[in-house]
Amino acid sequence: MKQYFNRKNDNTILFSLVSASLAIVCFVAVFKDSKGFSSFSLSAAGPASSPWRPWTTRNLETTPGEIRKQKQLINLENKKQKQKDEKLEKVEAGLERARALIREAVLNPNYSSSSSSEDKDYVPHGDIYRNAHAFHWSYLLMEKLFKIFVYEEGEPPLFHYALCKNIYSMEGFFLSFIETKTKFRIRNPEEAHVYFLPFSVVMIIEHLFDPIIRDKAVLQHTVSDYVRIISHKYRYWNRSLGTDHFMLSCHDWGPLATWYVPELYNNSIRALCNANTSEHFNPKKDAPIPEINLVTGEIKSLTGGLPPSRRTILAFFAGRLHGEIRPVLLQHWKEKDKDVQVYENLPQELSYQEMLKKSKFCICPSGYEVASPRIVEAIYAECVPVLISQHYVLPFSDVLDWDSFSIQVPVSEIPNLKKILMGIPEDQYVRMYERVKMVQRHFVVNNPPLRYDVFHMILHSIWLRRLNELKQAPQVDKVVRRYSKLEKLEAGLARARSSIREAALIRNSTSTHRDSDYVPRGSIYTNANAFHRSYLEMEKLFKIYVYEEGELPLFHDGPCKNIYSSEGSLFRDLEFYNIYRTKDSDEALVFFLPFSVVKLVEYLYVPGDYRIPGIGRAVVDYINTVSTKYPFWNRSLGADHFMLACHDWGPRTSKFVPNLFNKSIRVLCNANTSEGFNPGKDVTLPGLYLTEKLGGLLGGLSPSHRSILAFFAGGEHGHIRSVLFQHWKNSTDRDIQVHKYLPAGVSYNSMMQKSKFCLCPSGYEVGSPRIVEAIYAGCVPVIIKDGYVPPFSDVLNWKTFSVKVEVKEIPNLKNILMNISQRQYLRMQRRVKQVQRHFLVNETPKRFDIFHMTVHSIWLRRLNVQIKDFDDQS
Ligand SMILES: *[C@@H]1O[C@H](CO)[C@@H](O)[C@H](O)[C@H]1NC(C)=O
Ligand SMILES: *[C@@H]1O[C@H](CO)[C@@H](O)[C@H](O)[C@H]1NC(C)=O
Ligand SMILES: *[C@@H]1O[C@H](CO)[C@@H](O)[C@H](O)[C@H]1NC(C)=O
Ligand SMILES: *[C@@H]1O[C@H](CO)[C@@H](O)[C@H](O)[C@H]1NC(C)=O
Ligand SMILES: *[C@@H]1O[C@H](CO)[C@@H](O)[C@H](O)[C@H]1NC(C)=O
Ligand SMILES: *[C@@H]1O[C@H](CO)[C@@H](O)[C@H](O)[C@H]1NC(C)=O
Ligand SMILES: *[C@@H]1O[C@H](CO)[C@@H](O)[C@H](O)[C@H]1NC(C)=O
Ligand SMILES: *[C@@H]1O[C@H](CO)[C@@H](O)[C@H](O)[C@H]1NC(C)=O
Ligand SMILES: *[C@@H]1O[C@H](CO)[C@@H](O)[C@H](O)[C@H]1NC(C)=O
Ligand SMILES: *[C@@H]1O[C@H](CO)[C@@H](O)[C@H](O)[C@H]1NC(C)=O
Repeated sequence: MKQYFNRKNDNTILFSLVSASLAIVCFVAVFKDSKGFSSFSLSAAGPASSPWRPWTTRNLETTPGEIRKQKQLINLENKKQKQKDEKLEKVEAGLERARALIREAVLNPNYSSSSSSEDKDYVPHGDIYRNAHAFHWSYLLMEKLFKIFVYEEGEPPLFHYALCKNIYSMEGFFLSFIETKTKFRIRNPEEAHVYFLPFSVVMIIEHLFDPIIRDKAVLQHTVSDYVRIISHKYRYWNRSLGTDHFMLSCHDWGPLATWYVPELYNNSIRALCNANTSEHFNPKKDAPIPEINLVTGEIKSLTGGLPPSRRTILAFFAGRLHGEIRPVLLQHWKEKDKDVQVYENLPQELSYQEMLKKSKFCICPSGYEVASPRIVEAIYAECVPVLISQHYVLPFSDVLDWDSFSIQVPVSEIPNLKKILMGIPEDQYVRMYERVKMVQRHFVVNNPPLRYDVFHMILHSIWLRRLNELKQAPQVDKVVRRYSKLEKLEAGLARARSSIREAALIRNSTSTHRDSDYVPRGSIYTNANAFHRSYLEMEKLFKIYVYEEGELPLFHDGPCKNIYSSEGSLFRDLEFYNIYRTKDSDEALVFFLPFSVVKLVEYLYVPGDYRIPGIGRAVVDYINTVSTKYPFWNRSLGADHFMLACHDWGPRTSKFVPNLFNKSIRVLCNANTSEGFNPGKDVTLPGLYLTEKLGGLLGGLSPSHRSILAFFAGGEHGHIRSVLFQHWKNSTDRDIQVHKYLPAGVSYNSMMQKSKFCLCPSGYEVGSPRIVEAIYAGCVPVIIKDGYVPPFSDVLNWKTFSVKVEVKEIPNLKNILMNISQRQYLRMQRRVKQVQRHFLVNETPKRFDIFHMTVHSIWLRRLNVQIKDFDDQS
């Protein structure tokens, strides 16, 4: 149960868009069972139990482990698993949705506009933000969703309490606010997104640290005892190894305090003032918080200062020689310049506050630790901060664009400080000054806290870390970046995925979505609700591009009669009736390679040459043509392309192009797993024998009038049928009717319509039109096949309306069928009739029919892909 969280592994999703190399990450590592590794998100409990297989990245070189994963069906089923943590699943699904929404807001600045304008209180806007829209969305979602559990263990003064005065005041305020003054705190730990460890480093030091002995072990004991206690008493720490826990400290030794508990140090979210990356502050998981010096604890009238025109001092600093940077500063500037006023001791007659208020720039060098209360003092006094620090991650820098309202000066440039500041044009200074005033709101302490103030900004930083989205920071960048169409498409898909995943959690055999046409319900579905959601999303989003290259008869058409007719039927629908088809290749989610294997065999097969070189050449040439002419094949190595074949040689044909075989979505009748059919990426196409008789097949007698127990008629193709014939063909048993040739005058249709069970053994290939024929005839299919994946099995629960018989059980066939009770048979037969809809061929495709179901299978496979965008070199 440790796979929910991951912050430290580079394989996590990171907004999927960050950069090409990060974008493809995703869920490769999801099920690595090692501690805390795996993606943050996801259908919670791992492959076996997850309603959704995580989408893998097929365009990457696949590892053996991944191939194994890919063999698992995308599965809407809610398999039972003892370890399932449903609460956590729900929590995670909510977060996943939030992630997707934020991601979309990032990509589409207009996305959130309607809801933004609804925020009467404050709408983030302007240059102080990296991406105001994304921040706003994320903030609103936080308000809607975020839930924090505060452990109640521990007594004041070391826990649940700290002083609200002096430079460490944030510890005191945060502890006090989170305990009593926030709606984010909840009492039921089951629903929490994060767990707060309410110790105060300042108080531990104050009460337990002996200034003479200076033994820091007190910190170690207190913190590790605390973690031990809560990890014994509750299950949450062990479940995530601390990853969804957080602590907060403003003390210089905050980082040190966490060092004694490796998971706290390495996994937990640490909200620290001392955000020194050289001391393993990790901005991906740790949150930098501002250090605020509230000398008296009073929080009134902190802000204000003179307008720019009346600020007479260029730059100001007063403070002691702490650390390594200040000596350099003082050495160059101490009381040497009337414009740059630097003091070690401020003369009596000068007021520190007044100096800040009448300076244009306030110098904020690190002291003993990287953070300095001067930054917030400057912001309060409307003085543009000049930051001189090393390895410091600025507070809220995941949403604030510090460059827009502060100056960062490298230590080596300290001698040039005056030149640098003088070089800033007046209008630019005024803009920065205005922005400092704008940003104040995010640093102000309010009691009780107000929206968007420092307390809520800290919570928001933690929220972002919990979402694991901080890594978007480089990307929620206002640096003008052209988001490619593909990225937008992927963001839409991410949203669809999360909504489907969320739907999958509703365990109800009836879809809860509205649909005037058809509402999936009942046990024929692995998960009716998730299927319906997915289907609706497909209707909204799916776009198929059909390559126009290639000529008839080998391309753009397939056989419309005989046993391969589902190939032709699907070709026709994809080419002519396809509501998903787009002519704009840039908006396509999948690309169809319209060669017909049946036609290739018909025209290019040289009888006797089973290596079929001519067919191979044609396919290789075709892929070369489209991959040279368009960027799409190369970009995904074929992973978002699909081919279609009902011919037995479909799989062999695809083998001529390794990526077609291994990466593309192959829609095949011959779905033989022993020949490389991979249900994780390939789609089973139902076989069909389309003739005029198709219509006549529909229907059948009522169960009580079905006089034949089981029926089969067909050629002795393949070894399974040999076994079947051997046992049943010459049998005198009238219940099991197995024929090679039907007696004259007996109609195949009528036999199916009066049989209870119809036998569907593999022939020369695993697929066979008999399954669909049986379903049409209201006859329960008996599937006798090795290595076959039945059509649509990611959404249909085949065992509820068909019988599977192992080849070795053929001699027992009759016993097995007789053993099915009448009640059970009636249920199955009813379900067969219910499932007919999904196998119907309509002249013009209708919703939920065989065409749409096949496209839906392709859609599901596409949802599992992420594509590396090679275009994005900007
Ligand atoms: C956002 O909306 C504005 C006004 O409605 C429009 O001018 C602008 O082009 C839109 N931007 C995008 C990226 O759609
Ligand atoms: C958590 O793990 C620790 C150490 O492995 C163990 O002692 C403790 O009992 C576990 N806690 C729970 C609630 O299972
Ligand atoms: C954190 O993880 C690193 C690498 O896994 C390890 O070397 C280090 O000892 C860990 N830190 C602590 C405090 O356990
Ligand atoms: C940041 O950490 C490094 C490594 O421990 C240390 O050398 C440096 O002094 C720290 N910076 C400050 C300003 O304390
Ligand atoms: C399942 O959904 C149906 C239709 O929305 C509803 O009437 C029924 O109460 C739900 N059942 C459960 C167990 O939630
Ligand atoms: C795709 O890759 C092939 C082989 O690497 C190359 O010949 C072709 O030009 C590439 N296509 C495009 C559009 O760049
Ligand atoms: C597919 O991938 C596997 C493993 O990487 C490789 O062994 C096999 O040769 C590939 N198949 C084809 C047809 O290239
Ligand atoms: C079935 O009977 C026919 C003739 O009665 C015979 O030729 C054939 O070999 C038999 N088949 C099997 C499998 O026994
Ligand atoms: C499935 O593939 C395996 C391996 O190629 C083959 O032995 C088997 O006969 C195939 N099944 C059918 C029914 O063709
Ligand atoms: C018939 O069903 C019973 C119970 O479901 C089972 O124990 C028995 O093995 C079955 N017999 C056959 C021949 O399948």
